Amino acid sequence: MDGIIASASSEIEGSSPPPRRAPPCVFVIFGGGGDLTKRLLVPAIYNLACAGLLDEGFSIVAVDWADLSDEVLRAQFNEALQEFVARRGTAATTLREDMWTWLSSRISYLRGSFEEASTYAALSERIGSGNAVFYLAVAARFFGAISDRLGESGLVTEANGNGTFRRVIVEKPFGHDLQSARELNRRLLGVLRERQIYRIDHYLGKETVQNILALRFSNGFFEPLWNRQNIDHVQITAAETVGVERRGRFYEGTGALRDMVPNHLMQLLAMTAMEAPVSFDADAVRDEKSKVLKAAHCVGADDVVRGQYVAGMLGGEDVPAYRDEPDVAPDSQTETYVAMKLAVDNWRWAGVPFYLRTGKRLAERRTEIAIHFRHAPYALFRDTPVERLTPNIMTMHIQPTEGVTLQFGAKVPGPTVRLGGVRMKFDYSEWFSDGPSTGYETLIYDCLIGDATLFQRADNIEAGWQVVQPALDWGAHVGAAPLCAYAAGSSGPVEADALLARDGRHWLALGA
Ligand code: BG6
Repeated sequence: MDGIIASASSEIEGSSPPPRRAPPCVFVIFGGGGDLTKRLLVPAIYNLACAGLLDEGFSIVAVDWADLSDEVLRAQFNEALQEFVARRGTAATTLREDMWTWLSSRISYLRGSFEEASTYAALSERIGSGNAVFYLAVAARFFGAISDRLGESGLVTEANGNGTFRRVIVEKPFGHDLQSARELNRRLLGVLRERQIYRIDHYLGKETVQNILALRFSNGFFEPLWNRQNIDHVQITAAETVGVERRGRFYEGTGALRDMVPNHLMQLLAMTAMEAPVSFDADAVRDEKSKVLKAAHCVGADDVVRGQYVAGMLGGEDVPAYRDEPDVAPDSQTETYVAMKLAVDNWRWAGVPFYLRTGKRLAERRTEIAIHFRHAPYALFRDTPVERLTPNIMTMHIQPTEGVTLQFGAKVPGPTVRLGGVRMKFDYSEWFSDGPSTGYETLIYDCLIGDATLFQRADNIEAGWQVVQPALDWGAHVGAAPLCAYAAGSSGPVEADALLARDGRHWLALGA
């Protein structure tokens, strides 16, 4: 891409008004002493403070059971922040002292059980009558109880007419199947109104995921091609090199299907396949996502491949089998990989398969959506040395590379007609200078200003579970979707290759 487009893009960028400062708010974090808070939430809040987006009246109350003081908690946050800024690899590799002083003076700790009324009475005193957001950064088993206690204590009652808000952010996992997700929705909605609930999916905080809608709907030339007439199939990949790390116990009861598909992969599918919303209003966007997810389904058990990694090599190092990881049963039947073929039965996509795959300990860390277009007619090349046309693929790279590539055929210079596959590439880092973020900045800021567009509504969550529920059921019946082995460091089980080969297609290579 050339400089003319660059200057045009920065003009457009410059024309947007700067974001407004969020209103004053007490930001209560249940699980405030935990890993998520230190690694992601506090760094994200620090970044918002640096960007001048927090009000003087902003403060944090961290609630947890551990015996900590304000000073110890602040020291722990400071340490985590130091690590975070050092990792950024940008010019700002040290913590801004002025910002830390500003933020740390607004952080306090409340020791208490998530289930006892006394915790909520103490919270009520700290919060007073102003705005509050309650972030549930806790194990899923506490979601219902915390929301019940918040209701009983009156902490989520919004005073009529004066615009004061009380909002709750719910982390994942939201349920472990369709039925439990419905029950959790019912329980939350017994206490809160839908507009008070912000169900988070951290994939929606990723710039590249948000860019899918920008790319599709702010440009004239993609949308006319975005349909069954022009698209052959779509591949969605979320490949990880990490194993289950220290989360063996959690992962054993979860598996790749529940952990990644109803939430993250369904969000990617919905953003790729949804119709244009009438506006960026939260409900307009979420209506369209629900519609497309309701049209998506897995046809039969043959369309699902479950895999589990055995020992292998990754990055030149020996890697143990999943069953040898800490807190994993030696005969575990939990899948660490899943591939699925989905049909999206609506006017735009009928007949276009969506192939999804995600797994741990794969050859490469790569999340992307690849749109495979139909071939041009070959007829013209019949009497030339060209044997086949280059597949036309548009890939939206989510991570670690962030950008878009287009693959197409071009004439190889020379006297005969020969075609070569070439690529055109847009790389975020070459065009925009924003430093790396945690991905949580946008989500926290949006909740503070009351914009729920990037959060999931009850029906979105249930629609995601609805798509995977048959696969969960097949997985539970031994034989219907058996567990296939793949070596750590490989591209996944050969059975996943067969899933596409059956349709005369193949996955884009991993680790190539
Ligand atoms: C989490 C899953 O939701 O997403 C993890 O629980 C997974 O198992 C992670 O590793 C992947 O997130 P990201 O942002 O690294 O793609």
